[in-house]
Amino acid sequence: MSGLGVPSPDICCDTHGMNVLHKTPDLADAVLATLADIPFPSVEAERPSALLRRCPAAAKTPLSDAPDLAKAAGVGEVHIKDERERMGLGSFKALGAAYVIARDAEEGNATGRTYVTASAGNHGLSVAAGAQAFGARAVVYLADTVPEGFADRLRSFGAEVVRHGAIYEEAMAGAAQAAKDNEWALLSDSSWPGYLDRPYTLMEGYLVLMQEAVAQMPAPPTHIFLQAGVGGLATACAAYSRVAWGAGPRIIVVEPEAAPALYESIKAGSAQVTEGPESAMGRLDCKEPSLIALKGLARDANDFILITEEEGTTGSAACAEAGYPTTPSGAAGVAGLLSARHTGDGLGLSDNSRVLVILSEQAA
Ligand SMILES: Cc1ncc(COP(=O)(O)O)c(C=O)c1O
Repeated sequence: MSGLGVPSPDICCDTHGMNVLHKTPDLADAVLATLADIPFPSVEAERPSALLRRCPAAAKTPLSDAPDLAKAAGVGEVHIKDERERMGLGSFKALGAAYVIARDAEEGNATGRTYVTASAGNHGLSVAAGAQAFGARAVVYLADTVPEGFADRLRSFGAEVVRHGAIYEEAMAGAAQAAKDNEWALLSDSSWPGYLDRPYTLMEGYLVLMQEAVAQMPAPPTHIFLQAGVGGLATACAAYSRVAWGAGPRIIVVEPEAAPALYESIKAGSAQVTEGPESAMGRLDCKEPSLIALKGLARDANDFILITEEEGTTGSAACAEAGYPTTPSGAAGVAGLLSARHTGDGLGLSDNSRVLVILSEQAA
């Protein structure tokens, strides 16, 4: 990972080892210069909202005030946008792939079409549920590591499951090949050169949750902690937050130390393929960033932090104790907040901070 020609970033490593990268204008410019052909993320929240209003399974998710977590974090307020029940699918991902298929259906392009993807969880369910709702077919490639119970859940939504490869990346390569061989529609939640349109629309779907949160917050937050895998969730939330609240909120992207895709890319000044052990924050265990997300976050985020496996577990335990059981992935924003406040990291947190976090999935 080379940062050649890029000014030295402002990086802190506190006594507990948490890595904090404060984005500088130079770092942002370096990244943006390498992504000239990549679009910024959509901020057209009204498009997915309008479609969703026509869906019988759609309902706003709650924004909850969490005083116990605020106390634990030593901040004034913590507000949780709680995505655990989104459309009965267990995570915010219900807003993504299913929306792409709904948009295709609106244009008369979904019925009878086959959508293929690889998934380790929530994204696959969104593809399967969307395909089932709109008379399309879903084929989901699963790596050996994905439990058979999840394969059964996909099948219960009518998806065909193909076992392929030892790890997610191999399953994704299998899905991409199948799309090519069969002229199926590849529906990934990440973006890369030449594959931009569907993930652009997919991330547009995530805007719904932030549009709801903006209306539900009692006042604009001072800080927003956003967990990231390939970065789609974080970039949609960050982009919409800037539209709604301007430069005010400090936006902090949280990744596992084992998968620092966005952190290392911002630090190096260009997209990086990173390495690391497997993380228990499995949904966030993505070693490469989505390019649309990287571009959006280079513009909209302020800081990029890495949390350890232990910090991830502490975050989910704190959520469970406060009455919000979720996985370490679902709680990673909370984990980032707890670690940051206790380690004096220069994120400007204080007793007066009003923090917004997203609980991104239900407990396993
Ligand atoms: C529960 C949960 N949280 C967070 C994420 C991260 O989202 P993204 O990969 O868009 O950054 C995912 C991705 O699958 C997820 O399933």
